[in-house]
Amino acid sequence: MDSLFRFSALAEKMQPSPIRELFRVIQQPGMISFAGGLPDPDTFPVEAFASCADVLERDGRTVLQYGASEGYPPLREAIVEMMIGRLGYHPQPEELLVTSGSQQAVDLIARALLDPGDVVVVEAPTYPGTLHCLRNAGANFTTIPTDGDGMRVDLLPGVIAASERATGKRPKLIYTVPDFSNPSGACMSLERRQQLIELATELAIPVFEDDPYGRLRFSGQPVPSLKSLAGNAPVVIYASSFSKVLAPGVRVAWTVAAPELIRAMVLMRQGEDLCTSTVTQALVAEYCRRGLLEEHLHHIVTTYARKSRAMQAALESHLPDGAASWREPEGGFFFWLELADGDSRSLFERAVEAGVAFVPGGAFYPDPDEQVGDVLSGDAFARLCFTFADDAAIDEGCRRLSGAMSAR
Ligand SMILES: Cc1ncc(COP(=O)(O)O)c(C=O)c1O
Repeated sequence: MDSLFRFSALAEKMQPSPIRELFRVIQQPGMISFAGGLPDPDTFPVEAFASCADVLERDGRTVLQYGASEGYPPLREAIVEMMIGRLGYHPQPEELLVTSGSQQAVDLIARALLDPGDVVVVEAPTYPGTLHCLRNAGANFTTIPTDGDGMRVDLLPGVIAASERATGKRPKLIYTVPDFSNPSGACMSLERRQQLIELATELAIPVFEDDPYGRLRFSGQPVPSLKSLAGNAPVVIYASSFSKVLAPGVRVAWTVAAPELIRAMVLMRQGEDLCTSTVTQALVAEYCRRGLLEEHLHHIVTTYARKSRAMQAALESHLPDGAASWREPEGGFFFWLELADGDSRSLFERAVEAGVAFVPGGAFYPDPDEQVGDVLSGDAFARLCFTFADDAAIDEGCRRLSGAMSAR
């Protein structure tokens, strides 16, 4: 019998997220997972967070009510306070929006700016959640290569000109994860950040700076955010989240951008979720008000520094000579391995048999088989998350990965 449901063209076309599909594999008993980009659950501040629930007794009549689409005022204040250092200026109230995860910010920005067929410049590799969301808005992608210092901004004018020639349109947005990129872990150099802002201003294309990992630096010198370099100029749209610095289960994030874009995002969300859960915003606000977030950040940065060192040591000691190369990350969640045999898909199969999971690099490219510039295709890479597994599992997982590499 024909289905009762006549699905939209978009629903017919949609593909499952490759990483979410991996969750089934990861849940097999005994599997060591370097796959999901998950925080260490042992770091979750369960008791401290639970103690903030007394905000319900104090302010229940407000926080159990519908809230403003722009966000719960005490949380907005806490975010501004926390962000002054990272943003380098004090954003005005009309520049700030609280969202349900930064995934929602991507969605609202995409729906506010893009019509089907519009072009977005994305780094290759980049975060697949954003690709999925932009695809839903009908975006086409133009890719810009990256290296250990982030986006190859020197190639941007050529990439944009070629895209304009091919599509007859100027790209509407440039998307970047400049600090500890997901997946590559790379941090964009200061010089490239300055060039990017200059170019984007000249070409009148806004840059979307997605910054969930910026505060998770454990070595090297901090680099200013794009937003802080641009100040309140509208060219940079900045988004960050409590997911990696507190807990992804809270689903609370924020965007700082020009008032006219924030207004459009607010109108979009009024046809969507109305507002982020006021109860959760109140809990997070109380957590920040008590000064607990800064303490917690110190704790997780120390923990992740240790785990990153553990993975570096395990990879060095276990992987067969010459099988892979990588740069030790200075922050964030990920190692990005370039595989000498360029075949992460078959390595993945063997690794899962050996009891360790990672994400094959193709998941992070709009077209996994495309070579971007002189850069290898996604198949040449593997993303390993070092934050989730404990130290012993990091060592054992790298040992299993080595076995899978040798078993060709
Ligand atoms: C670069 C990047 N942006 C956005 C997100 C989604 O974050 P949130 O949990 O705030 O929706 C992630 C999550 O992994 C990410 O890595």
